[in-house]
Amino acid sequence: MKYDRINKELFIHNRKEFVAEMDSHALAVFNSNDIYPISADSTMSFQQHRDIFHLSGVDQEESILVLSPFSLNKSHREVLFLKETNEHIAVWEGEKLTKEAAFDTSGIKTVYWLSDFDRVFKQMMCEVDLIYLNTNEHLRASTVVETREDRFIKKVKESYPSHDVRRSAPIMHHIRSMKHKIEVNLMQKACNITKLGVERVLGFVKPGVWEYEIEAELMHEFLRNRSQGFAYTPIVASGASACVLHYIQNNQQCKDGDVILLDVGAEYANYASDLTRSIPVNGKFSQRQKEVYNAVLSVKKAAEKLLVPGTMLDDYHKEVGRLMESQLLKLKLIDKTDIKSQDKNWPAYKKYFMHGTSHFIGLDTHDLGMYNEPIKAGMAFTCEPGIYIPEENLGIRIEDDLIVQKSGAPFNLMGEIPIEAEEIEDLMNA
Ligand code: GLY
Ligand code: MN
Ligand code: MN
Repeated sequence: MKYDRINKELFIHNRKEFVAEMDSHALAVFNSNDIYPISADSTMSFQQHRDIFHLSGVDQEESILVLSPFSLNKSHREVLFLKETNEHIAVWEGEKLTKEAAFDTSGIKTVYWLSDFDRVFKQMMCEVDLIYLNTNEHLRASTVVETREDRFIKKVKESYPSHDVRRSAPIMHHIRSMKHKIEVNLMQKACNITKLGVERVLGFVKPGVWEYEIEAELMHEFLRNRSQGFAYTPIVASGASACVLHYIQNNQQCKDGDVILLDVGAEYANYASDLTRSIPVNGKFSQRQKEVYNAVLSVKKAAEKLLVPGTMLDDYHKEVGRLMESQLLKLKLIDKTDIKSQDKNWPAYKKYFMHGTSHFIGLDTHDLGMYNEPIKAGMAFTCEPGIYIPEENLGIRIEDDLIVQKSGAPFNLMGEIPIEAEEIEDLMNA
């Protein structure tokens, strides 16, 4: 791992939160992700499943966490099963968690090797009536790949057909949406690394540069600061490509007079940062580009103030729509007639701003969260309005990551990253 060890108090706290929401006579199981194959003996680099990480800090393949808070055997109330290691295995396969290191990481005292799983798990299952299984209920998730968790669920249902089954997902969505102070610090660290990347890019971009060269500068800065790299596939989109919301080719040359949309965030310790800045290739926005830029910035400044306890995300998105509508009228991109004749399910402003304004952020970029409940202090959101005008070769989005406070405006984890048009121009011309 490139990141510094995380204080295990975080994972102890997170398990307490999960267990507090469990029914009695139950246990819950969480599996690692697989290491996904490419072909021959090549694999993709390992990415831990965020739920087992959230509850244990274990960042290693083939790990299983079992929480059985009602077990009569007190040493079985929290158990980790890990891939076996010893000095010989360490020489051949590299460093893996020892039982001691697993305790230092997670605060879990009972650690078995995986070879003991079937035997110990049977003892644990015979003490409970109910098992919590962890399915992926993220609304945007869509995958054809069978995960290690999916295989485990099949096996457990076959082996223990008379146990009742419950969903862990609602509990995980709830507890992961509320950020602990240690998590906020880790997210701040990810944002600080992103800031270094942006500053590097502002001094690097000039007409003729290629989008992938900008991506490389960011990666360089992220890696040298203990990040594994991008938290999500980066978007480095110049000119009209900025209007393609999921543009990830990053293979075009940046032309004098164009604006580049950079949707690029570093990860740190599996925590995501998610930033967008829009910068002029030649270091100076045209008058029209600045007008559009400032329209987006004014929507962003007003929108983020609405991320306060009690707000419903649905109402928030409607209000941001109204803010955007008034800016688009000023820019003469829409007029009163467009609004009068608009479809209420697809208002006129959507022609130029067709995506949502905010999503939860944390261990996943589009994090788990309670989208239909009022916002609470301690939740983390992005705020990312944009205006996309393909006929003008121009797409502008501005995005920061924010922590909702008990009162007042949210805390901006990206508050130190240049955002005013003039500030960006000054740094590009320094
Ligand atoms: N970078 C993905 C997003 O902004 O939601
Ligand atoms: Mn983004
Ligand atoms: Mn985002």
